[in-house]
This record gives sequence, C-alpha cells and structure tokens, in this order.
Amino acid sequence: MRVTLRQLEVFEAVARLESFTRAAESLHLSQPGVSMQIKQLEERVGLPLFEQMGKTIFLTDAGREIYSYSQRIGNLLDEADTVIEELKGVQSGRLSISVATTASHFATRLLAAFSKRYEGITISLDITNRESLYHQLENNQPDLVIMGQPPDSLEVESVTFMENPLVMIAPPDHLLASEQRLQLTRFGEEHFVVREAGSGTRSAIERFFREHEVNFHTGIEMTSNEAIKQAVEAGLGLGIVSIHTLELELETGRLVILDVEDFPIMRYWHIVQRSGKRLSPVAHAFKQFLLNEAE
Ligand code: PGA
Repeated sequence: MRVTLRQLEVFEAVARLESFTRAAESLHLSQPGVSMQIKQLEERVGLPLFEQMGKTIFLTDAGREIYSYSQRIGNLLDEADTVIEELKGVQSGRLSISVATTASHFATRLLAAFSKRYEGITISLDITNRESLYHQLENNQPDLVIMGQPPDSLEVESVTFMENPLVMIAPPDHLLASEQRLQLTRFGEEHFVVREAGSGTRSAIERFFREHEVNFHTGIEMTSNEAIKQAVEAGLGLGIVSIHTLELELETGRLVILDVEDFPIMRYWHIVQRSGKRLSPVAHAFKQFLLNEAE
C-alpha cells in the first residue's frame, strides 16, 4: 500500500476532528485540498475510509484501522524527532561516569553498547567503592553515578533501575551446598571473605545480619569481587556477593549459591546525580539509554 505521510497526516486530522473543514483549518489547507488527499488515500487503500450521514462523517472499519496506524506512525515520527534532536547534541562530547565496583560488571558492557551508538563521544569511567562515590558526588565531579544506595546526607536525584540481589556463595563441595532452607543462625560462627570497609555491599550485609540479630564475622578483606570469588572457590571461607558479579562461575559449577533463609538480601541499583545538576546531552542520553536497557 503506497500511501504518503502527508495523506496519513491529513486523514488523521479529519478522523480526529470529525470534520473536513476543521481539518483544513488546523492544517492550513483548503477544503478541496483535504478532500483530494483523502480521495487519493482511499484509492491507494482500495476501500472507503469515511461514510457521510447528513452532516456527520463516520469512520468505516477500514477507516478505523488506518486511523490507529496513522496515530502510531505520528507518534513514532515525534519520537524520531526527539531522538534526532538529542543526537545533534550527542555526536561529540564527554561522559564522566563513576560506578560502584560491584556495578562495573554490567556498567562496562552498557558503556560499550552506548559508545557504539554514539561513536564521537569520549567516556571516562571510574570504578570505585561506595564511600569514594559519596565524596565524588559531594564534590559534584562525575556527571552520573551508579550505586547501590543513594546517600541520604546529600541532595541528589536518583532513579532505581534494577534489582541487585546479594547471594551467599560456596564452593560446590561445601558440606552445606546441597542443603535447603538453611537457617541464618547457622552462619553466626562462620568467617566470611568480605569486601573492604567503605563498600556498599559490605555495609548492606552487616546491616542485614544486625537486623536479624545474628553475628557476622569477617575473615579476609578484599577490594575486588573477583578476588572474593576466587578465595571462596579456593575454600578460604564463604562469601556474599551481588548476583551481578556471578556468571561463568555458576554456569561452570565453580561456585554454588547456598539456599539460606531470608536470602537473597534484596538491594537495588540507582543512577544518581547531584540535585539541580544540568546534564550535558551526552549524560542525558546515557541516562535514558540505561533506563531503556534496564526495562
Ligand atoms: P560496592 O557497591 O559494594 O562495590 O561499594 C555497591 C553499592 O554501591 O552499594
């Protein structure tokens, strides 16, 4: 069906305003001009789109179908307009983003996809722990921050975009590996391989054990999730990590998730900026990109 966008636009106005005259006015066209476009559209479609009863016009079945498509096409064109406008500002530019160590697993992949779409931009990515992200936000350094929990002592705007479940991991030959519904109190004497003080994951775990009134003993401390996984695999203790840091280890059976009551510890990822910060077109586009991808 070879219809033109102009024909659809005229048709949409007539159908919406239920009048050739009002459509002509709103499009700054003459009424015969409108009638001509509708006639040509009906010829292309091969069916009548309107029925005239006295002074009133009604859509036929075919008219209703075309009306629904013409509205959707109109919306898509508006959306394309917005995207193109954004692109004009995003073709070159710099994005400075800081992410929590634990978020780096998905954030780097996301940034790679984003930079493929906007090839002219420069990205600077800092991967660090929660405490350091707090100071960066305090000094208004990065455009955007991805972190587990937005700070309450700073004025920030934050949007939650994805779940961040923390799970307990063990080597596959651990004696609890095949047990179900393990009670949390069983782990009160355990020594865990943990992240450093200042890590959001670490403080969330400590808070969780405190709230459940179970002791939490820290064993070896490490600043990297990768190192924690390797240590757990080597039998140096149990670990609690974000599920986003685990991929191959589960697939290849190098680690297992223990079935512990009240687990996973449910957290959420947030994209955060200082309140009132004016985002550059690149930063704005990245935030949109991330929210769309998360959906
Ligand atoms: P982190 O990140 O444990 O790597 O600091 C998670 C968070 O921000 O909560």
